[in-house]
Amino acid sequence: MRILILGGSRFLGRAFVTEALAAGHQVTVFNRGRSGPDLPGVVAVRGDREDPADLARLAAAGPWDAVVDTSGYVPKIVGDSARALAGGAEAYLFISSLSAFTGFPAERLDPGSPLFECPPDATEGEYGALKAGCERAVRQAFPGRVLIHYPGLIIGPHENMGRQTWWLSRIAKGGDVLAPGDPDRRLQLIDARDIAGFGLHCLESGQDDAFLLASENGHTTFGQWLQTCVLETGSNARLVWAPDKVLLENEVPVWSGLPLWTPLDDESAGVWDTDVSRAIAAGLNCRPIGKTVRDTWAWQRDEPSLADEDGRIHGHGLLPEIEQRVLAALTN
Ligand SMILES: NC(=O)c1ccc[n+]([C@@H]2O[C@H](COP(=O)([O-])OP(=O)(O)OC[C@H]3O[C@@H](n4cnc5c(N)ncnc54)[C@H](OP(=O)(O)O)[C@@H]3O)[C@@H](O)[C@H]2O)c1
Repeated sequence: MRILILGGSRFLGRAFVTEALAAGHQVTVFNRGRSGPDLPGVVAVRGDREDPADLARLAAAGPWDAVVDTSGYVPKIVGDSARALAGGAEAYLFISSLSAFTGFPAERLDPGSPLFECPPDATEGEYGALKAGCERAVRQAFPGRVLIHYPGLIIGPHENMGRQTWWLSRIAKGGDVLAPGDPDRRLQLIDARDIAGFGLHCLESGQDDAFLLASENGHTTFGQWLQTCVLETGSNARLVWAPDKVLLENEVPVWSGLPLWTPLDDESAGVWDTDVSRAIAAGLNCRPIGKTVRDTWAWQRDEPSLADEDGRIHGHGLLPEIEQRVLAALTN
């Protein structure tokens, strides 16, 4: 297939590029050239998706069998892209998010769960609502096949969020590592490469459908995941598990402080409880967590440090003095 990826140089889009090239597809990427170099083997069209003239120039470089939009956040901008490409592509795969559903993260999501209401020409709002508006914009503007994929929490090589990468970086330093909540808590992490593989599979097989994308509930647990990070980094780290109550008393920021930790309360009861059975029946295949951790560390350990001077990555992670304070509280 001839595939156009809107984005393609950072994390998930980059995974789409890699998987598509490996599968023998012809890949064009469209980006501004700011987030990093394009991968060898692609045709790169430079431009800004917010600029109508750049979109017209992009459209003239088609046609394509499919557009994959990994960089859409604002309905008006996504609608403009879908309209510009409407005459030159058969299918449009929009990467949305579980955050586009009103019930996330409090409730268990299934394919019938309601999305936020957001106009297709909106220019501002919250991330999740805007993603729902982007979907409406694509459905309105694009006459061909529309595929909407809603990923949950994505990890893997080239992650640009500081979630698994912070844990790997902290654990590699060794010593007593504060670990959050319950080691048996089930997670539904998904590898960017598995999302890309499934997206391409859907395009190759001519589908036009919507899928919730995460690994199966119980694919891994917090304990297994972090212990795998210890193993793969070859660290002498010892995980010291702190109950939710202790973390809250010590004002550890939920979600970002110890990345991906939320207390087990009503507000986040559904965060790791998404029904992904439809995607699995349609061919979603999630690699074992050990493979994701190993490949991520193989990439990350050769990168210049991703962490800032406080040891945090993109605002994720716990300051060392807070970690020491909580560890001391646990042992006293
Ligand atoms: N991370 C998660 O856990 C998670 C969970 C659920 C859903 N998602 C979704 O997954 C996607 C992740 O995206 P990614 O960042 O990894 O994708 P990516 O395609 O690898 O990177 C973003 C790309 O967009 C380009 N770009 C940004 N602004 C642009 C503009 N105005 N015009 C043209 N190109 C532009 C960037 O290049 P330049 O800067 O060089 O232009 C870069 O190539 C997002 O849609 C996100 O909502 C993520």
